[in-house]
Amino acid sequence: MFANSRAVVTNQTGVHEDLEKVVRRHLEHPWQAPLADHDREAFARFEGWRQQLGADRPLMLDSGCGTGRSSVLLAQANPQALVVGVDQSVARLERAGRRFAPLPDNLLLLRADCAGLWRLIVAAGWRLARHQLLYPNPWPKSAHLKRRWHGHPVWPTVLALGGELEMRSNWPLYLEEVKAALAINGLTATLEVLPDVCEPVTDFEEKYQASGQRLWRLTATL
Ligand SMILES: C[S@@+](CC[C@H](N)C(=O)[O-])C[C@H]1O[C@@H](n2cnc3c(N)ncnc32)[C@H](O)[C@@H]1O
Repeated sequence: MFANSRAVVTNQTGVHEDLEKVVRRHLEHPWQAPLADHDREAFARFEGWRQQLGADRPLMLDSGCGTGRSSVLLAQANPQALVVGVDQSVARLERAGRRFAPLPDNLLLLRADCAGLWRLIVAAGWRLARHQLLYPNPWPKSAHLKRRWHGHPVWPTVLALGGELEMRSNWPLYLEEVKAALAINGLTATLEVLPDVCEPVTDFEEKYQASGQRLWRLTATL
């Protein structure tokens, strides 16, 4: 683990001026893009696993889980729940499988595009008990607003997933934008700085801590 992580650099001076317009457009016009076969296959695996372990158990998602550290912690802390760590990177998930073997019985690590998987979960009528999005890629250039989850057409689906949402970032503006996006739907979020000394829950968190960066957490009930 290297203590050489640089702080996020952005050309924005505050919440993106187009945020409200973009979020409202996505709320008014549901995303119609076709779903990828590999996301349908991932969802089918998820569905089978859930049926096998108990469809009545609370469902928790760790989206963009990377090397799975936070997913393992979440599963251990919530043995009654079913926890799914989702990432698009097969290399990171394989590393997680090796590093944390044997995985907790109530944890499934799943390769999928979050956007596709989230849509399939909502289409199936499932609701989450908890949803973690820890250190999502910040896309800090102003032109990249639509790549941030709250500026993406899938954002209304994130809201529909429900549950206790927790997001963390080393770039507070990302979370300030999430807070502003949630407010458009009348949802209140809490934004706070993490204590300087706390046990890291993800590899990125550990790297940012070691680099002396301040880290932020947003929580909201969806
Ligand atoms: C900055 S890393 C953070 C990883 C982990 N949460 C951590 O804190 O160590 C962002 C992760 O999100 C994943 N990711 C980005 N976009 C994704 C998408 N659309 N679907 C699934 N995973 C995605 C990346 O592969 C990467 O592992």
